[in-house]
Amino acid sequence: MMIRLDKLLADAGAGTRSQVKEYIRKGLVTIDGQLCKKPEQKVSGQEQICCQGQAVDYARYRYYMLHKPQGVITATEDMRERTVLDLLNGVNTTDISPVGRLDKDTEGLLLLTNDGELAHRLLSPKYHVDKCYLVRTARPMEAKALEALEQGVDIGDEKPTLPARAQMNAQGELLLTIREGRYHQIKRMLRAVGNEVLYLKRLSFGSLTLPEDLEAGAFRPLTAEEQEKLRHDISR
Ligand code: URA
Repeated sequence: MMIRLDKLLADAGAGTRSQVKEYIRKGLVTIDGQLCKKPEQKVSGQEQICCQGQAVDYARYRYYMLHKPQGVITATEDMRERTVLDLLNGVNTTDISPVGRLDKDTEGLLLLTNDGELAHRLLSPKYHVDKCYLVRTARPMEAKALEALEQGVDIGDEKPTLPARAQMNAQGELLLTIREGRYHQIKRMLRAVGNEVLYLKRLSFGSLTLPEDLEAGAFRPLTAEEQEKLRHDISR
């Protein structure tokens, strides 16, 4: 895919769109060693681009995993509340969005990217990407309730939930793996079996798992291998 030179430079953090236009017009930008004075010049991102004598580090698509803490909302901007994008310190967040959403009081793994196509597919019901949640419930979970969650429960939507995996860990917490991402799905599923969520944390999203050493509020770029595995998650 080709994009405009001024957009690429702005996306790469070389300056605002009007600043980089200025740099280009002043002759401060080269493409593969050739001076280019046209902000609208189309480039692929594979070229060696220099701005004011510095090589521009440009990756068309950027992917980050965030350990979303409680108390932060999954949005790109908000008048009052802190958003997950506010946590990406030092990152050029142009066009970056969260993939799906976690409630304000939910913590855990959140993927953020400017790769809209990948995001769309990861959220599509067609690909059934697994998401595993750790759930602390108000009351102990009965075997009957676990079975019901696994089979699918009526949460008031047109259709019951798809089959899920529901297991207890050694600490008496519920590990619930779902393949959909309906609004407040886990909370509504627990309500459907007569219980209530007290604490919710997402541990995994497709092949991505929340690293134990990634503290709440911290983030890091995905490795090339993690990106590759995510693409594999949606290739079936
Ligand atoms: N299900 C919920 O109820 N809340 C979340 O944040 C995620 C899944």
